[in-house]
Amino acid sequence: MPRRVINRRNHSALGRYVDESPEGTEFRRVAKRVLDLCKQSTPLTLMVTSAVRGEGKTTVAANLAIALAGDKRRRVLLVDADLRRPRLHTLFGFTRRNGLGDVLRNDLKVRAVYKSSTMENLTVITGGRFNKSPSKLFNNSRWRELLAELRADFDVIVFDFPPTIPVDDPESVGKEMDGVLFVFLSGKTPREVGQRAVSILKSAQANVLGVIVNDLSEVLPYYYRHKYYKYYNTKPEVTFNSRQET
Ligand SMILES: Nc1ncnc2c1ncn2[C@@H]1O[C@H](COP(=O)(O)OP(=O)(O)OP(=O)(O)O)[C@@H](O)[C@H]1O
Ligand SMILES: [Mg+2]
Repeated sequence: MPRRVINRRNHSALGRYVDESPEGTEFRRVAKRVLDLCKQSTPLTLMVTSAVRGEGKTTVAANLAIALAGDKRRRVLLVDADLRRPRLHTLFGFTRRNGLGDVLRNDLKVRAVYKSSTMENLTVITGGRFNKSPSKLFNNSRWRELLAELRADFDVIVFDFPPTIPVDDPESVGKEMDGVLFVFLSGKTPREVGQRAVSILKSAQANVLGVIVNDLSEVLPYYYRHKYYKYYNTKPEVTFNSRQET
C-alpha cells in the first residue's frame, strides 16, 4: 500500500507524494545522487533554481526535501527563499507569515519561524514578510549568520530560490551554497535560455551539481507503468530525471 507522507487533503503535487510512485522513485534517486556528489558530508546547503518562472523549482525543492527526510535520522529543513513569489507554504497548508523575510529583517529569531511538517524530521521555513528589495536581504550579514545557525540545527537544508535570469538572488548567494540544483522544464524552456542561466551561476562560482529535468511525461511513464511495473496504475503527473551537467 503506498504511503502518503503529507496530508491527503492537500491537492498539490506534494500532497500526492507517494513513496512507491515513479515520482517518489525519481526523487529518491536525485536525493541519493546529490548526497553522493556531496560525499555524504553534512551539514549540506542546497539551492534549487531554474532559468525562468514556473519550471517546477518549488515542486522539486519540496519533493526533494521529502525524499531526503525519508531517512529518519536526517534532520531536513526546507526554506522558501523566493521572497518575491513565496509559494512553498501553500504546499504544506501553512501561512506564509513568520518566515525567512522576518528573520532577515531582524524581526524574528530563526527558531521562532521553524514550522513542523507531518514528517517529524522535516521542518519548513516559509517566505514570511515581503520586502521591497529582497536582494538586499541576501547581501547583508544577517543572511550569513542565519546560514551558520541553520547549519547548526539541520543536516540538509534545501532552499527554494527564484529563477536565475530575471532575478540576481541565485547568483549572489550561489557560491555560499554547497550545491546548486538547476531545474529545466523539458519541452518548454529553450535550451539556450537554460544554458545562459547555468553560465550565470557558474560565473558567480556556484557549484552547479546538476540539472533536474522536469516533466519527461512523454517518455518515462511508459516504462514505469506498462513495461516494468504493470501493477502500478496511477497516472504519474510529474516525472523527474537527473543527470550531471555537461
Ligand atoms: N512535471 C510537472 N507536471 C505537471 N505539473 C507540474 C510539474 N512540475 C510543476 N508543475 C506545476 O507547475 C506549476 C509551477 O510549478 P512550481 O511552482 O513548482 O514552479 P516554480 O519554478 O517554483 O515557479 P515560480 O518560478 O513561479 O516560483 C505548479 O502548479 C506545479 O504544480
Ligand atoms: Mg516557486
